[in-house]
Amino acid sequence: MKLGNINLKHGIMLAPMAGYTDRAMRRVCHDLGAEYSVTEMVSAKAVVYGDKKTFSLAKILPDEGPVAIQIFGSEPEIMAEAAAKLAAPLEGAFPVAIDINMGCPVKKIFSNGEGSALMKNPTLIANIVRAVKAAVSIPVTVKIRAGVDSAHINAVECALAAESAGADMICIHGRTTAQMYGGSADRKIIRNVKESLHIPLIANGDILSGEDALSMISDTGADGIAVGRGAVGNPFIFSEITAALEDREHPEPTLCERIDTAILQLKLAVEEKGERQAIPEARKQIALYLRSFRGASQLRALINRSTSFLEVKAALLSLKSPQ
Ligand SMILES: Cc1cc2nc3c(=O)[nH]c(=O)nc-3n(C[C@H](O)[C@H](O)[C@H](O)COP(=O)(O)O)c2cc1C
Repeated sequence: MKLGNINLKHGIMLAPMAGYTDRAMRRVCHDLGAEYSVTEMVSAKAVVYGDKKTFSLAKILPDEGPVAIQIFGSEPEIMAEAAAKLAAPLEGAFPVAIDINMGCPVKKIFSNGEGSALMKNPTLIANIVRAVKAAVSIPVTVKIRAGVDSAHINAVECALAAESAGADMICIHGRTTAQMYGGSADRKIIRNVKESLHIPLIANGDILSGEDALSMISDTGADGIAVGRGAVGNPFIFSEITAALEDREHPEPTLCERIDTAILQLKLAVEEKGERQAIPEARKQIALYLRSFRGASQLRALINRSTSFLEVKAALLSLKSPQ
């Protein structure tokens, strides 16, 4: 599939996750086969006000592959102004698309009329997409859910509103806002959206293996898939999915590969953010890298107390040569 002038061979994408999909995670996932990724969501208002921390979340490095910046908000003019600011190169790298968050279920965001609350108002969806499209020359994409709750499943209507206003691609997480992350993603709803659209659709929700990716694509007809939680502590899922789509075997990553990749991700995060921020943030990811190691609980406790990169690295390396 194509997004603007970018060719995405299989449409394999890292889904945006606030607190997770930072530059380090995006780079590691890209190295292992994610063809496209999205930043953590950033507030359009904060961008317009010039908030430094927000710009840092939106920074992209050239070695991450194609990256879209995701914005959230509810006012078309503010969203457009933020998109225009973010589409300009920042320290040499720039996004390949602006993605608009219409799926966030978090109470604070939802009650502000942002995130998935936009799905209550397809006219506003169209107005936002139209305004953002007019403000930038790169593709504009939209991330939605199935609907706000089971009594209001309107993903098709929302996707069509976005498409008619000029959206270039849609990604759908097949759950309602009310479900948060409970239950499972509804593939029938995703299929209905795919059958209604002319622009590419990315299917998202509960993909934890190459097999899941294959069945998601065959069940929905989607043009690609996005993986979120399944990539945390397991970026190898992208090489597994690539192999599955190319009908190749995928050898399980070795213990050494897992450890080296966890260390690389931590090193990249520390280089970007410094130890004080990166080490506490990385603990939850490292814990998931270690989930398949027997007897790692002591090590996890040690890592949870560690505050330096070298300490965590040494602890991880000790797994390679247990005493
Ligand atoms: C911790 C966390 C943070 C998330 N942050 C975002 C976000 O910033 N923007 C967004 O569109 N979706 C966000 N999501 C939703 C994911 O992109 C994805 O739609 C959802 O997790 C379902 O996919 P999965 O089953 O592959 O994880 C987040 C999900 C999680 C678990």
